[in-house]
Amino acid sequence: MPRYLVRFFNDYAAFRLPDLECSAHSFSIPLSHCGKLEDDEVFYFVDYPSEEDAKKAVSRSVLIQGIYEVWGSGSSAEECIDQTGKYCTENAQHVSSILHDSSSYCITVENYGCRWTKKQKIDLMKSFNTIPWKGRVNLETPDTDFFIFQDFRNSSIPGFKKEGNEQETLVLKQVYFTRKLGEGSRHLITDYDLKKRKYIGTTSMCATLSFLSANCALANRKSLIYDPFVGTGSLIVSIAHYGAHVIGSDLDIRVVRGKNFRQKGNIESETNIQSNFDDYGLTNKAGLELLRVDLSQSHVWKPQNKSHAPKPIFDAIVCDPPYGNREGPRKIGRNKPLAEDSLARVKENYIAGTVPYDVKEMYDDLLEFAARSIVTKGRIVMWFFVNNDEYCEEILPSHRCFKLLYNSIDPLTKKYHRRLLTFEKFCDYFEPPTASNKHDLSDVAESENKRIKQE
Ligand SMILES: C[S@@+](CC[C@H](N)C(=O)[O-])C[C@H]1O[C@@H](n2cnc3c(N)ncnc32)[C@H](O)[C@@H]1O
Repeated sequence: MPRYLVRFFNDYAAFRLPDLECSAHSFSIPLSHCGKLEDDEVFYFVDYPSEEDAKKAVSRSVLIQGIYEVWGSGSSAEECIDQTGKYCTENAQHVSSILHDSSSYCITVENYGCRWTKKQKIDLMKSFNTIPWKGRVNLETPDTDFFIFQDFRNSSIPGFKKEGNEQETLVLKQVYFTRKLGEGSRHLITDYDLKKRKYIGTTSMCATLSFLSANCALANRKSLIYDPFVGTGSLIVSIAHYGAHVIGSDLDIRVVRGKNFRQKGNIESETNIQSNFDDYGLTNKAGLELLRVDLSQSHVWKPQNKSHAPKPIFDAIVCDPPYGNREGPRKIGRNKPLAEDSLARVKENYIAGTVPYDVKEMYDDLLEFAARSIVTKGRIVMWFFVNNDEYCEEILPSHRCFKLLYNSIDPLTKKYHRRLLTFEKFCDYFEPPTASNKHDLSDVAESENKRIKQE
């Protein structure tokens, strides 16, 4: 497969590779890459089957700035100029199809890790004299965009030579001469900025992380995706942007109904999840169902007709479960049982009381529900809030039917961070072993896997 250069934005380093892979996966485009990308690296080589596939795959990503065909590279400008000349000779036909008398182009010098003056940049552009330039320069609407990338690093990194006198602390790691093929969807972050949204709350997730979550779930027009902790609906907005049909539920009926809802007098809320969907034009594009459900009561999803075994219906579950003491998980319950003659038993619109819900129990319930309700090969993408001192892999939620694909960290404070965990359901649901019916889980899972592969 041909190799292309991906240029990431300089943020959310831990999400770059999951986002790269899921963006391709959601269009069923194969890709290959070395799998190693340091947090401070924004240039990365990826193999895609074709230029069209490469463009399409990155078009979905909110972390990728662009994708480029590399004409030359080197650890110095001279080496890169030389390599570019060789490329132009070896690929003369391709180059002449891009640079010809009636073509137009624009060249941009972009430095990572170092500022340069306009003059320095123009001098560098002019030095690429090994390219058979033809056509005219057009800075507004060129047929082709060329980018010269210079990747600088701090000289404390061993093994890099120093660059010039002015930039004592910087070293030039690599120079690339490239032709731009396509770009990512960074505009979504501004289009869906929470600041412009009418209905938000203290737990609404920012657009970048919502889109990363939606992408990890491979949301698309054919999928049905459920958020069982929907809150103000920030995750399902991004999921619906990709055309997926969404179902959201929450224990707290007030967040589902929205602001200023009054039961008495039938005053409907004007700002709620539905109005956000309307504002973004998502109501027609996707589809939205909202419910009040307590995750601990997930048996409500079972079919009434007991002769039919429940079938998995969701392609994915995406959620940000409750955490912390102030807004921690709760479930329906009472410290004291309701009296037999309590009016609550007969009162219409009675809203049941709640009690604290143990976090581990909640994640266990969530994964068990997911294992039963998500289709095989479907995903659960969930946020996991952790105390920095307490983190180790053993504390991550797990389930016999799921394998962990990605574990991406979002550092929050000195004390806490959260992780986006992406699991894939790799086999059909099977009951947990009991004392009387012990079997080796890995055997079951393995044989299920074989069966899926054969299918
Ligand atoms: C971190 S917030 C989710 C925020 C949401 N992503 C948003 O966009 O606003 C967690 C949500 O879980 C809900 N919740 C707490 N316990 C629950 C339970 N047992 N079942 C369902 N929802 C629950 C809370 O009411 C809260 O809205």
